[in-house]
Amino acid sequence: MKKIWIITGCMALMAVMVSCNNTRRNPGRAYMPDMAYSRAYETYSSTENLKEKGIYYTSMPVEGTLARGDMAGYSLKNDSSGYVQSAAIKSPLSADSIDLKEAERLYLINCAICHGTKLDGNGPLWNNGDGPYPVAPRNLITDPITANMAEGTMFHSVTYGRNSMGSYAAQLTTKQRWEVVAYIKSKQGSASAAKPAADTATAVTPK
Ligand code: HEC
Repeated sequence: MKKIWIITGCMALMAVMVSCNNTRRNPGRAYMPDMAYSRAYETYSSTENLKEKGIYYTSMPVEGTLARGDMAGYSLKNDSSGYVQSAAIKSPLSADSIDLKEAERLYLINCAICHGTKLDGNGPLWNNGDGPYPVAPRNLITDPITANMAEGTMFHSVTYGRNSMGSYAAQLTTKQRWEVVAYIKSKQGSASAAKPAADTATAVTPK
C-alpha cells in the first residue's frame, strides 16, 4: 500500500517539475482560456505582441473602408486644408428625404448636453459656466462663426471634432451626421426668418 503512495508522490513531483520552465510570460496551458484572454481586450492589445508571433494585424480598418449600409465615405483629411475645403462640400441628402424628427432625436441625444436643446450653446454640461464642462460650446444659432458656417464645415467638425469638441464619427453614421447638420441648418433658417430683414441680409450668404 505504501508503494502506491510513493509512486503517486513521485509522479506528482515529476508533473510539477515538467510544468516549470524559464518562460515566465507564458502561462502555459490555460484553464478556461476565455477568462485568461479577453477577446475584447485582445482586439486592442498591442500589435507588437502579435508581430512577435508572426501575425501582422493592425486594429484600424483599411483606409476608405465603409461600414455595411453606410453612405460613401468622406474624403477630406483631418487637417487645416481639409477644414477650409469642407466649405464646398454639399450634403448628399436631398431636402425632402431628411426626416427632421429623427434628426432632432439624434441632436438631442448627442449634442444637446453641450449645445443645449435650444441650440444656444447652453446645455447642462455648460450651464452658464456652472457646469462641469470647461469650455463654452458654440451657440449654433447666434454665434457668427456657426450661423455663417457651411453645412460641409459643420459635417467636417462633427466628423473629426474641433478643438475641445470630440469626433462623433463613432457615434453617428455618415447619414446621421448629415441629418444632424440639416437639423441645425433648419433651426438656423427658422431663427433668421424670424429676425428683421436687415439682419438676415448680412447673416446669410446666397449660394
Ligand atoms: C462635450 C460637449 C460637446 C458636445 C456633446 C458637442 N459639442 Fe459641438 N462644440 C463644443 C465646443 C466646446 C465647441 C467649440 C470648439 C472650439 O473651441 O472651436 C463646439 C463647436 C461646435 C461647432 C463649430 C465647429 C467649428 O468648426 O468651429 C459645431 C458645428 C458643433 N459644435 C456641432 C455639434 C454637433 C452637431 C454635436 C452633436 C453631434 C456636438 N457639437 C456635440 C462642445 C460640444
